[in-house]
Amino acid sequence: MSQTVKDEPTADTAAIDPAREGDSGFGNARVITADEYFQRVRHTNVRGCKWEAEEWQEKLDELGKDPIRHAERRFISLINEDHGDLAGASPGIFIGIQLIHPGELVPNHRHNSVAIYHYLQGTGFTTVEGTRYSYKKGDTIVCPPWAYHEHEATGDEDTIMYVCQDMTEMAAKRTLFFEEPVGVENVRHMVQGTSKSWSATRDPDME
Ligand SMILES: [Fe+2]
Repeated sequence: MSQTVKDEPTADTAAIDPAREGDSGFGNARVITADEYFQRVRHTNVRGCKWEAEEWQEKLDELGKDPIRHAERRFISLINEDHGDLAGASPGIFIGIQLIHPGELVPNHRHNSVAIYHYLQGTGFTTVEGTRYSYKKGDTIVCPPWAYHEHEATGDEDTIMYVCQDMTEMAAKRTLFFEEPVGVENVRHMVQGTSKSWSATRDPDME
């Protein structure tokens, strides 16, 4: 005969949503019928979405002046708010526009999302798993999932990269992982409260 061990809620889990407490004692478990389920499935209408160039350029210019933001995380993201907390252009697609000043290096790191870089401006090098690719305006480079990569802006003008990644769905499933920079042992998924900048070692508010 099997023995049932009843878990007790911790203070943290019980505090997640007091309004729902009562189903299990943990506050987040609920049993619902099929009819209730289909009422809960997302029905939100999703509209097309356009982001004006002037809007993202202005925001990126502001970030470019900010010494707190490190080169590796100096980007803005294009979000369709119709997707709610699935922050992305669509539930599966992240679009970012990243700015790297001449002479800056985005240090070697990796993540399990694929990254597609299209270079809108600038010259330099993107290195993927040791292969150093030069880039210029109009080029596209793909970095496969979990491949080490770094970016080095050279020349006289800022590098601006249009970046697409498949990470929004991964983030929702808590299967998005970073190793940043190379060798950092606490490879981890980004969860609320653990990483403001997605950097494993840096807290921009502390510098
Ligand atoms: Fe990256």
